[in-house]
Amino acid sequence: MHFFTIVVAALIAPLCILAVPLAARDDEGLLHERENLCNLSSPLQLCQPNASVTVEETALRAYKFYRAFVVDGDPRTMFSLIDSVYKQNSPGYQSGPQAIWPLFCSGRKIDTEQNTAWCFDASTNMSYARYSVTDRWRWVDGCVHEHWDRNERMPSQDKCYKLPTGTV
Ligand SMILES: *[C@@H]1O[C@H](CO)[C@@H](O)[C@H](O)[C@H]1NC(C)=O
Ligand SMILES: *[C@@H]1O[C@H](CO)[C@@H](O)[C@H](O)[C@H]1NC(C)=O
Ligand SMILES: *[C@@H]1O[C@H](CO)[C@@H](O)[C@H](O)[C@H]1NC(C)=O
Repeated sequence: MHFFTIVVAALIAPLCILAVPLAARDDEGLLHERENLCNLSSPLQLCQPNASVTVEETALRAYKFYRAFVVDGDPRTMFSLIDSVYKQNSPGYQSGPQAIWPLFCSGRKIDTEQNTAWCFDASTNMSYARYSVTDRWRWVDGCVHEHWDRNERMPSQDKCYKLPTGTV
């Protein structure tokens, strides 16, 4: 091989590796591109409460919600995990998924998984996402039901649900 070819190959190889995390993987292994859905006036699909959803399934959903919200900018997945109540606990914020749709429909990414953190505390059914601030959500019947974002703190690591290896 010509020396120049080797140099070019060496320069291009890392770019190919970088290209992979630009798309999000869901638990079926499908690739989801970041989507701008602001041409739609409402979320496509909300979460249907289901009392049979297990704690394990809820923990996995909490991880998917954090990915969609913080890392991937994936409004389709994000709103498919929010129920029709989505009670807000901050003064001045209206409840309901419709009220936050304009903030998230464009598929904005907030930060990388390396720079941020998530947690699902099965003893309280609360999930957390830490980026520049920390948000907290309560899960009911497998759906995000309630939200807080005032002086929230991540629980200690021992309180955070450990997803089985290989799930994500
Ligand atoms: C809105 O945009 C999405 C993504 O580009 C596209 O799939 C969909 O068909 C559009 N829907 C409408 C109603 O324009
Ligand atoms: C409710 O959740 C259970 C457990 O995940 C699932 O087997 C069942 O199909 C769900 N029911 C509906 C109507 O989605
Ligand atoms: C958390 O949710 C599960 C169902 O996923 C329920 O059985 C349990 O009682 C809830 N725990 C609390 C503290 O609300």
